[in-house]
Amino acid sequence: MAKITYTQPNGQDVVVDAADGSLMTAAVANQVEGIEGDCGGVCSCATCHVHVDPDWMDRVGQPNDAEADMLELDDDTDETSRLGCQVPITPELDGLKVRVAAPQ
Ligand code: FES
Repeated sequence: MAKITYTQPNGQDVVVDAADGSLMTAAVANQVEGIEGDCGGVCSCATCHVHVDPDWMDRVGQPNDAEADMLELDDDTDETSRLGCQVPITPELDGLKVRVAAPQ
């Protein structure tokens, strides 16, 4: 179980208790605004883009090549960008904060 805080594009925080799945599936299940997950989590739509709190980047990790290629198609990326569907929920992420990327 991991408690994840998503700051939505409207500035509102949504705190989710996630037991499994990914940052994307936990957000969609809890109707977090701004995370659509259109491709179902196969790294081909970027509608699950989040900015990870910099203090958490070591634990969340960097995108692999396929994810980095997909993020290049998004205008709002930076060194904290991840696709939520590519970040599995683990107990080590308990307390994680992410900001949902601005809509494209
Ligand atoms: S849900 Fe499509 S890239 Fe993550």
